[in-house]
Amino acid sequence: MTDIDRAVAVLRSGGLVAFPTETVYGLGADASNDTAVRRVFEVKGRPNDHPLIVHLSDVSQLDGWAANVSANAKLLADAFWPGPLTLLLERSSSVSPAVTGGRPTVGLRVPDHPVALELLRSFGGGIAAPSANRFGRVSPTTAAHVVADLGSDVDVVLDGGPCRVGVESTIVDLTTDRPLVLRSGGVSAERLEEVLGHRVDIYVSTEPSTGGARAPGMLEAHYAPNARVVLCAEHEIAEVLIEVLGFATGPVGLLAGSALVGLPKDIVELEPAGTADDYAAVLYSRLRQADRLGLSVLVCVPPPEVGVGVAVNDRLRRAAAS
Ligand code: TXA
Ligand code: MG
Repeated sequence: MTDIDRAVAVLRSGGLVAFPTETVYGLGADASNDTAVRRVFEVKGRPNDHPLIVHLSDVSQLDGWAANVSANAKLLADAFWPGPLTLLLERSSSVSPAVTGGRPTVGLRVPDHPVALELLRSFGGGIAAPSANRFGRVSPTTAAHVVADLGSDVDVVLDGGPCRVGVESTIVDLTTDRPLVLRSGGVSAERLEEVLGHRVDIYVSTEPSTGGARAPGMLEAHYAPNARVVLCAEHEIAEVLIEVLGFATGPVGLLAGSALVGLPKDIVELEPAGTADDYAAVLYSRLRQADRLGLSVLVCVPPPEVGVGVAVNDRLRRAAAS
């Protein structure tokens, strides 16, 4: 029996399978099995009204899961699937409210990872999967992260190596006339605009602390390590480090795109994160490393806010807000 066969058997019997995608690892259950889906919420410690993304093997499955699929939705699915884009669509009547948190919409995506695709093809159905971390924690980008977070609460962990993209999928709401980006992620707004031929709106929350309205779970201070995260531009680094060293109760770390010179000697410099794409790929590992090192404060110099750098900045702001 291969690992995939074993994982498919676990899914069919209502168990949970953690699997790699190009973005982050997912905690998967058979999307048509309400008991299995409820276990995902329990294991994650996530409120039941936060919907799960349903993962599909192929764009041809779209019509089985969504109703009234617009021309824009088809365009985006054809252009970006498999890939780090989740489409929010009206759910088809067969989709369980357990998956959608009782909402009339469903989030769908075809992940771009050979292990995920092999699992989805062998299983045949939709796999409902949030990121494979406890609620509110940093998403896992390696199988070891999953095991560290969820331990024996997950029945099988498929190891597909480190995730290529490293931040979650972009979520686009296509249930209204104008496509709206609810979460920035692996596909930049610029790339969406190129395919659609017009501008897309980006959802900006006005009440960061309350969550709710369109995208539960996206408005809260998420993605946070234990270390307090402080953001700063490169030209402010000297002043910020001095200030942080003044109040920190333990070791202070620094994460930047490139190596910086002239740092105070007691700063723990994490390996530079590189360009925006590289920064995305290593971000969650570095945040976990900050905790392993017992840092009390991690000062981060974010990458430029273009391409996937927008998503990195978004996650860093959320980490800093908690
Ligand atoms: O890259 C990703 O999207 C990863 C991988 C595993 O595919 N998944 C992921 O899932 O990040 P999760 O559950 O951690 O984040 C999905 C977000 C949640 O904030 C959820 O509330 C929102 O998407 N969401 C899903 N379906 C929705 C719906 N029907 N309406 C509104 N928000 C939805
Ligand atoms: Mg998540």
